Amino acid sequence: MKKHTRKVTVIIIIFLAGLTTMLSAQNYPFELPKLGYEYNALEPVIDAATMEIHYSKHHATYVKNLNNAVKGSKFEGYSLEKLMLNAKETGEAIHNNAGGHFNHSMYWSILSLKSPFNPESEVGKAVIQTFGSLDSLKKLLNKAGLTRFGSGWAWLYVKTNKELAVCSSPNQDNPIMDVSPERGIPILCIDVWEHAYYLKYQNKRADYLNAILNAINWEAVNKNYTEALVSPLLKTMK
Ligand SMILES: [Fe+2]
Repeated sequence: MKKHTRKVTVIIIIFLAGLTTMLSAQNYPFELPKLGYEYNALEPVIDAATMEIHYSKHHATYVKNLNNAVKGSKFEGYSLEKLMLNAKETGEAIHNNAGGHFNHSMYWSILSLKSPFNPESEVGKAVIQTFGSLDSLKKLLNKAGLTRFGSGWAWLYVKTNKELAVCSSPNQDNPIMDVSPERGIPILCIDVWEHAYYLKYQNKRADYLNAILNAINWEAVNKNYTEALVSPLLKTMK
């Protein structure tokens, strides 16, 4: 086999393997995704102990409980997206654990200390056009997280008209779900459950929010944004 042909074959195999993993992770049986970095990678914003417990205990439990709830039910053939789109019908166990799995998977992927905001990126331009500046967006996300009573999430999401917006949700809800008053595709999320910050910040949710909004992986958010704009899901939610 020629060197070039061998290289192309290897690339195709890696692509197909990645695609298979990605797709299988989104259907029953659901799997805990790889974290992609060490537990201490986000220190000092998030300490290693919080990361380890949050990922390996909390998120893993959502995945386990989701599989237990879906197993043998009429929803076994549903994708994670479809479960969330039909949260009213699936019942509380699937509704909460599907959200827990999706929300945490996004949360891990949009955190980094090494991927700053780029005003020239697609999402960078949209943030400035919509909110005026990154600081204005941070203030809105901070307020959304701070005013969410009890446990929940703060979101930056693409509305069905493709505009950006900020909201918060209770428990493990998110804007994809049919139970949500705000509908759209999330591109950035902040976990404001106490388990996300209590070890380091105790009851000071505001301090956690201020810190974590400076640890966003804007390259990942940009990818989420460009994918959301062309997603058929937006039409489904209209
Ligand atoms: Fe969490």
